Amino acid sequence: MAQPFRVLMVSAEADPFVKVGGLGDVAGSLPKALLALPQDALGEYALDVRLVLPFHSVISRDVAAPEPLLTVQIPRQDGVVEAQVYTSEMTGFPVYLIDGEPISRASTVYSLDSYQDAEKYIFFSLAVLEMIKALDWKPHVFHAHDWHTGIAVYELSRRRHQDDFYREIKSLFTIHNLPYMGAGAEKVLPEYHIPPSSDHRLPWWGKSLPLPMALSAADFLNTVSPTYSSEILTSEFGCGLEDFLRSRASTLFGILNGLDTQIWNPADDPFILRRYTSENPEARLTNKQALLDLLSLAPGEKAPLFGLIGRFDRQKGIDLALDALRMIAEIPWQAVLLGSGDPVIEERARDLEREFPDRLRVVIRFDMKLSHQIYAGADMLLMPSRYEPCGLAQMIAMRYGCIPVARATGGLKDTIFDIPDLSMSTGFLFKEATPEALAEAIRRAVVAFEDPTGWERRQRNAMEQDFSWSRSALEYYRLYRLLWL
Ligand code: GLC
Repeated sequence: MAQPFRVLMVSAEADPFVKVGGLGDVAGSLPKALLALPQDALGEYALDVRLVLPFHSVISRDVAAPEPLLTVQIPRQDGVVEAQVYTSEMTGFPVYLIDGEPISRASTVYSLDSYQDAEKYIFFSLAVLEMIKALDWKPHVFHAHDWHTGIAVYELSRRRHQDDFYREIKSLFTIHNLPYMGAGAEKVLPEYHIPPSSDHRLPWWGKSLPLPMALSAADFLNTVSPTYSSEILTSEFGCGLEDFLRSRASTLFGILNGLDTQIWNPADDPFILRRYTSENPEARLTNKQALLDLLSLAPGEKAPLFGLIGRFDRQKGIDLALDALRMIAEIPWQAVLLGSGDPVIEERARDLEREFPDRLRVVIRFDMKLSHQIYAGADMLLMPSRYEPCGLAQMIAMRYGCIPVARATGGLKDTIFDIPDLSMSTGFLFKEATPEALAEAIRRAVVAFEDPTGWERRQRNAMEQDFSWSRSALEYYRLYRLLWL
């Protein structure tokens, strides 16, 4: 009989319950991918993977169909706050949803009120630790993601010395986005009787911030691509934690995210007009014309159509793309930008649209269907990120034969091959985070685009890459086992 190997995944968001960004994709698909690993990969063990999330007010009660399970008490300076734990069977594996006043009073998953966010996630973190004890379900690996769950990892490491229940639980902390550290927590921590970290290797300002506290307390750390895991050891990407992270380099790993290849599949995508495979990438032309039609842009078979999809914030380098497009006005490009975020970037995008009314469409909203249509119809995806821990859009684009033009950083560098050998090339990379460097890469891509045979070859290479979760899930399983060696 296989012995159980228990993993608790702890996250602020997870698809299909609630998804704001890439973290939601990962926390939603990784448990499924782990549970789908073949038995021969698991050896003598059987995986028991469970997920715990805050019961955000935006999670649909109808869809999640929560069943009340138990209540735990969280001590706070002014008394005790109750946390209610629910379970949901919606995904086919156990999911726990934690409710309580600091969680239910917030109307969004993340807010601009850093104090409110800090309290919500500190309360959630403490409730998770109480929950596993109340359930008497002891994970082998406590796998926590991003700053929101940092205090759970930190408190776990303290409780290991005080309470037998926690003694053997190992922790893995995954960094999806280093700059977000949980500012606002400094004031909340004392209210929940949590002392600052005493790790002298941490900079002073990090001793009462959830992310650095977790980086110091976790047994193992990882980021979501190998390149990002070495980039964060440098001052350019380390956000002031590079020296500390270097001291942890032997327990810091990089595992590339996978893609949900069922959701993202051009051969079976309900949102696109013409479905296709790597055998007939030319079928994309029908989707391109339909997309141009939808956007009221002139039909253009020869003109390259660029897509840009994502959060409008500094990280994603949308501003670099806007400037680069202006610089290459001599190319008859057409483009569509889809996303929302920073109002200043939104306004700059609208300015460019006013400058190029018959070439550019800026769609400021979250639109799942349109994103599928862009991946299936645009010729190239621009992704000039200033930093990119992994990035999903470039993997989706490649799977759809939409060739990425991206900055050589983090997961972009690990997933896109920009090499002269046409039998392996899948996209175009550039180094400097400047509009000039991006413009130069776009020019190179456009020259290549003018050779239809070479372009189709590149599309086929891109579409045939394996971005599925199975490989990464196996790497996570191996890391979990390494924690137990
Ligand atoms: C964050 C990162 C992104 C990564 C995602 C999931 O959103 O910015 O690069 O793909 O997390 O790990």
